[in-house]
Amino acid sequence: MLTKKMESALNTQINEEFWAAYLYLSMSAYFTSEGFPGFAGWMHVQAQEEVTHAMKIYNYVLERGGKVALEPLKAVATSWKSPLDVFQASLEHEQKVTAMIDKLVEIAIEEKDHATRSMLQWFIDEQVEEESSAKTIIDSLKLIGDNGYGLYSIDKDLASRTFVDETKES
Ligand code: FEO
Repeated sequence: MLTKKMESALNTQINEEFWAAYLYLSMSAYFTSEGFPGFAGWMHVQAQEEVTHAMKIYNYVLERGGKVALEPLKAVATSWKSPLDVFQASLEHEQKVTAMIDKLVEIAIEEKDHATRSMLQWFIDEQVEEESSAKTIIDSLKLIGDNGYGLYSIDKDLASRTFVDETKES
């Protein structure tokens, strides 16, 4: 059984993960309108991944006999200054999520909820990857600056990303 405190914190995280999907979808739409199909595709895959994150916790709460409470999603930004600005916002968001996952782990430890602590390990590892991929793209974008050909090339490279449901792989 989940404690009420743990259940409520997990529900907050479900909302956050769905909100992240919303955010990345908005970034994808922005990139499409700005003429960057590769960045748009990358963000679209990112949005799909976020839905799987939300569903991993959703399924877990139900498996433990808890109640899922889906709350309204806050509005997301719709425009940014540049591709670099978008990825910087993405990294900031991921850093916030990492702090939220750490907080969830602290609650699981306080509540002596070892099953939740174990489930959260997947998210701890995932956040390392999430922050690292945003940082790598930020570094490339900083190097490129306003160079049109550079932006064209990185947009083309990022177009190769495909969606894989990583929550099913472990
Ligand atoms: Fe659900 Fe981007 O971490």
